[in-house]
Amino acid sequence: MSYLITGATGLVGQQLLTRLLKRRKSLYCLVKDDDNRQRLLDMAAKLNQQRLIIPIMGNLRDPLLGLSETDLEHLKGNVTDVVHLACDRDFGNITNERVKRHIYGTEQVIACGHAIGAKRLHHLSSIAAAGLYRGCFDETMFSQAEQLTHPYFLSHHLCEKVVRQQSDLAFRIYRPGFIVGDSQTGQANRVQGPYYFFKLMQRLGDMVPKWMPLAGFEGGCINIVPADYVADALDCLIHTPDLDGQCFHLTDNKPYLAGEVLNLISKANRGPTLTLKFNMNLGGLLPQPWLQLASQYPPIAKLGQRVLADLGIPQDLWSMLNYPTRFDNHNAKRILDAAGIHCPDLASYINPVWDYWERNLDPELFIEQAICAKLANKVVMITGAGSGIGRACAQRLATTGAKLILVGRRQDKLEETLALIEAKGGKGLACPCDLTQDDAVKQLISERLSQEGNVDVLINCAGRSIRRSVQHSTERMHDYERTMAINYFARVRLILGLIETMASQGRGHIINVSSIGVLTNAPRFSAYVASNSALEAFCRCAGAEYADRNVSFTTINMPLVDTPMSAPTELYQAIPTLSAAQAADLIAKAVVKRPKRIATRLGIVGATLHALSPTIAESCMNMLYRLFPESGEIQPNDKHYHNQQQIIGLAAMLRGIHF
Ligand SMILES: NC(=O)c1ccc[n+]([C@@H]2O[C@H](COP(=O)([O-])OP(=O)(O)OC[C@H]3O[C@@H](n4cnc5c(N)ncnc54)[C@H](OP(=O)(O)O)[C@@H]3O)[C@@H](O)[C@H]2O)c1
Repeated sequence: MSYLITGATGLVGQQLLTRLLKRRKSLYCLVKDDDNRQRLLDMAAKLNQQRLIIPIMGNLRDPLLGLSETDLEHLKGNVTDVVHLACDRDFGNITNERVKRHIYGTEQVIACGHAIGAKRLHHLSSIAAAGLYRGCFDETMFSQAEQLTHPYFLSHHLCEKVVRQQSDLAFRIYRPGFIVGDSQTGQANRVQGPYYFFKLMQRLGDMVPKWMPLAGFEGGCINIVPADYVADALDCLIHTPDLDGQCFHLTDNKPYLAGEVLNLISKANRGPTLTLKFNMNLGGLLPQPWLQLASQYPPIAKLGQRVLADLGIPQDLWSMLNYPTRFDNHNAKRILDAAGIHCPDLASYINPVWDYWERNLDPELFIEQAICAKLANKVVMITGAGSGIGRACAQRLATTGAKLILVGRRQDKLEETLALIEAKGGKGLACPCDLTQDDAVKQLISERLSQEGNVDVLINCAGRSIRRSVQHSTERMHDYERTMAINYFARVRLILGLIETMASQGRGHIINVSSIGVLTNAPRFSAYVASNSALEAFCRCAGAEYADRNVSFTTINMPLVDTPMSAPTELYQAIPTLSAAQAADLIAKAVVKRPKRIATRLGIVGATLHALSPTIAESCMNMLYRLFPESGEIQPNDKHYHNQQQIIGLAAMLRGIHF
């Protein structure tokens, strides 16, 4: 037995190759270009099997796979089995055009097998060939498939049909469940299928603490299998005699419900549990015409698309959560059980799969490329760039290819930041300006717009904070005026000066560094929180006006950060804070994703508590207000002095909230 294999460098292909090699037969592997060929040669070198793994240049899009005369001649009589693994397993990318290509590719695999005198075709199909069949689909069923409307289902179904109807070779068909990485190492090569939900659960884990119970749903059974199980099963079934013309389900006998799968993913992420389950079919009790109307109403549809795009989930994948099909795998199981091959329980291997995704496949790992693509040759204005978060942000963006306009009052500080970014190969300009002065800001804007044409991203960092209770502010109206002057009016002044140019050029992003205090209503910060809240309110209204002109607003509810601003408060020296570089990472994330808001988990819990039970929230904050001392108040004879350990412990637990 020797083999011609398509898709040898894919997720299943790589694993299958290592198993087939044990039989010491030649593996002719179709490679479509030099990159693909090199990948295969690297694999062969790693396995020290350059003699047995032989690349064959060709393409599924060409007649007879585009094999050269020489290759066809060489393969003739040398190949007994054609193993067709290549196909699109990515639910998110498949289009009707690609369906046609897959069908054509499968036809050419058959034609090529015939031309080289192969005996048998092994076709890796998918459970998707059943469509969205309601009930139990067994290995003898094919034409009973239902609801093949999505190209992903259609493609697998029609390719299988080609094999069944057009193959003049003997054939075996294998239908695996949704394939994830290796059950031991988690290794996979791309994000597809269940991986799309990893980002969703990661976001949830970032936003909500582990102990918080959440409402979830049950959904349908999602049949997930690891790549090594599929490869073991293929290796066994390919080499078992007398199975031609049969179909095998390579599925999990006890698949989990969609809600349980999300919970397992969340557990692997050490995130919260979706405890309260509701049945998604309950949606059926709601008036359907209303639901349909609502979901087709453009703003609602657009909103849904934006949420899914933000999470990187293909729109149609959402419908898979209610997957209606179960799979009977008696035929495959009988043979695989005898060979000692069993599909492992998802719960036993979700951890390595998650870890591998988080370390190698998470799209946010590629944030560096994304941010460079976003900012290359763009103009970014950073206020407060002479120190703290603003300076760290300038350093973070220095290597993106953007021109950085550095704004603040102290020229020497701005020059220092400029030197730091130039040392990293960045480019920028120090523009000293007191942002509370109307004329100075007008001049800054007119100079910059005439020189640069537009400011593509405005990062409002310049600000001031005042930690003083209302009780101690009764004679200090100027505190309220000073915070409003820089945290609200100065930022609005800049936005008003730049926004119309942004909108007329069809691109603009305004990022405001606000505070977690806005979400938690921190006592002693009434002046500071009110000024930031005013800006958030302004941006919510302006955002609604500019959403269709591609100008977006992002608010970052920053927790406590170690900068010159927080330094004077002694208490903050003893508790964990974010570093300025970590704060700059949040700004970088905002640049790439353009979300409405970036907040920490504690901030979201605080906002939720204030929304659900304002009285309880107020009492909690009052208790904390009484416990924490006023700035400069800790004296040996003060009660706070004796409570200090308790205070520091509590502040560490409520990491990031200022008191
Ligand atoms: N540090 C934290 O814990 C924390 C937490 C949440 C939110 N934030 C927010 O993050 C932002 C940056 O704070 P930071 O911690 O980096 O503080 P920082 O180091 O004190 O930086 C504040 C910057 O604002 C500039 N600035 C102040 N008044 C100005 C004016 N009138 N015109 C122009 N620039 C002015 C200052 O530069 P010049 O003095 O040279 O003008 C300084 O570079 C602030 O808006 C703050 O409210 C900070």
